Amino acid sequence: AVAGAAGQQSAKVLTIAHRGASGYAPENTMAAFEKALELDADYIELDVQLSRDGRLMLIHDTTVNRTTNGTGLVGSMTYDELKTLDAGSFFSPAFAGEPIPSLDEALDRYHNRIGILIEIKSPHLYPGIEEKIAQALRVRGLHQSNDQKIIVQSFDFQSLKKFHSLLPEVPIGVLTAGSYHLTEEMLAEFSAYADYINPNLLFVNEDVVQRIHAHGMGIMTWTVRDAAQVRPLLKLNVEGIITDYPDYVIRERS
Ligand code: G3P
Ligand code: CA
Repeated sequence: AVAGAAGQQSAKVLTIAHRGASGYAPENTMAAFEKALELDADYIELDVQLSRDGRLMLIHDTTVNRTTNGTGLVGSMTYDELKTLDAGSFFSPAFAGEPIPSLDEALDRYHNRIGILIEIKSPHLYPGIEEKIAQALRVRGLHQSNDQKIIVQSFDFQSLKKFHSLLPEVPIGVLTAGSYHLTEEMLAEFSAYADYINPNLLFVNEDVVQRIHAHGMGIMTWTVRDAAQVRPLLKLNVEGIITDYPDYVIRERS
């Protein structure tokens, strides 16, 4: 369903704002999601982890050290503690006081306005996180079809299989980062539960694209931070480009 002719430029590649439009605003904050909307991205990508008291929080690293004014593990802090942190100043003083959002807040604010690519981050640290994400989607009626523009991705294949067994209609993306060869066996196994393979852009080439398409899956590649990276990816016919700068993709696609 997703295959296209090799070498023919994608008509409308999906533009996915990585951690929001994180080239322009602090990653995984409402400011970055708002910027993605303003730039007309198709999806926002966001990273989900669990607080000590079991709330779904949007932050990339497993500690708060790099992106906030606090220190410590995300999973050792309560929702209230995480909510007092400043997740904006690390990026620029213009964003001082920007809080860490919860997944609930992002779903409520954006689910009808822009697609949401949810990454289950480091799920081995957070037993039960798949069920909590599934429940957050269920209560909002976002679990029934891919018309809802919700996709769930992870580097953790077991976590993805678990999530798929909970909400089989929500599209799944398998994140791959290594230089390992995506064998036919691996692709066949992924295609049992996944709709997309999402590789690092360093490992996207004609052969990989053709074989992923042949297994009936699409490709969302990451992370574009240089405008010159866009055109070759469009020529390879990927379905989505995950980027800190959504405008780089939007101005190149037809
Ligand atoms: O969406 C792909 C990308 O987000 C995966 O890497 O480290 O930025 O979460 P990372
Ligand atoms: Ca991510």
